[in-house]
Amino acid sequence: MTLLETIKREGAQTHRSAPRKFDPIAMPELAFTPELAREMEPMYQQVKDVVTPIEWMQFAPLVKAINELKVKRNAVILAHNYMTPEIFHCVGDYKGDSLQLAIEAGRTDADVIVQAGVHFMAETSKLMNPDKTILIPDMEAGCSLAASITAEDVRALRDAYPGVPIVTYVNTSAAVKAECDITCTSANAVQVVESLGSSRVLLIPDEFLAKYVQTKTDVEIIAWKGRCEVHEKFTGEELNELRGKDDSIKIIAHPECPPDVIAAADFTGSTKGMIDWVKTNKPPKVVLVTECSMSANVSAEVPETQFIKPCNLCPHMKRISLQNILESLVYMRNEVTIEPGVAARARRAVERMVNLKN
Ligand code: 13P
Ligand code: SF4
Repeated sequence: MTLLETIKREGAQTHRSAPRKFDPIAMPELAFTPELAREMEPMYQQVKDVVTPIEWMQFAPLVKAINELKVKRNAVILAHNYMTPEIFHCVGDYKGDSLQLAIEAGRTDADVIVQAGVHFMAETSKLMNPDKTILIPDMEAGCSLAASITAEDVRALRDAYPGVPIVTYVNTSAAVKAECDITCTSANAVQVVESLGSSRVLLIPDEFLAKYVQTKTDVEIIAWKGRCEVHEKFTGEELNELRGKDDSIKIIAHPECPPDVIAAADFTGSTKGMIDWVKTNKPPKVVLVTECSMSANVSAEVPETQFIKPCNLCPHMKRISLQNILESLVYMRNEVTIEPGVAARARRAVERMVNLKN
């Protein structure tokens, strides 16, 4: 079953046209004129190492139109670290990992949130700030982890492990979150698991994140069989081979990677944790074992570091473009809503995580 089918079956509703009263706005003219080129030049300087001049001719009018529309609509764009650089650096108002974006979604007083990320992130924003209009530029931007488990699966786990608390990674549908005790992200999974005061915890749905957390805690972790289709492709062998050629290369991995990849890494952390590590340590050469756009985004800010492949593309994150961000704001389409009964229970699980003391 695809994520969209799961969502439709389990209660999160999706709208392809705007049900609320927003004034119609005409699609702006998009032309790369000499005046526009001059006006946008300071912004181009921030991304010139990762966006070519030809690409900029296409991006600049879209960037200008989106930034003007954000003001008209009182909208903010929450951009995940895996967005391409022209989205991340040129239209993103808040940028970060899943945890940071969830917190910003709860804080904003904008009327509209455009989620430059995937569907579960948009649902989390809705849970954090239910009165806001949440738009996702492409409804099909899913996640293999979110698609790996249903609410019914979680109910079956509850029956199979009576009394064992269930922690769900935020990479799940609202319907799955509604069946769980608390959510976690890759930034706080160990802390969340240990906060429950239980000797056994179910940590779903990412089997590799669960394995990673198990190496950091004495709590017994019971895992599900979900995997991130992007991170599961990396191998320890390819990384060890790279290091064999040049031992000055630093290897930084996301905890969704397989255990042999994490064993080969110098540091493992959430996407924010990985970025902070690079900015603090400024290694001459680094491999970010994660989605490719993150290297491009950090390299625009840390030009002294050389970013080495491998990296893999997330096909879901790559569905988001300047073009569909603009269309979502012009037509106010692709609103993400959640059935109130599901939302109330899912919100409890997310708020319990957000309210944990550091
Ligand atoms: P982060 O919370 O680390 O940003 O991870 C989200 C994600 O989808 C990674 O694949
Ligand atoms: Fe999901 Fe993996 Fe894509 Fe993140 S990178 S959104 S976990 S499929």
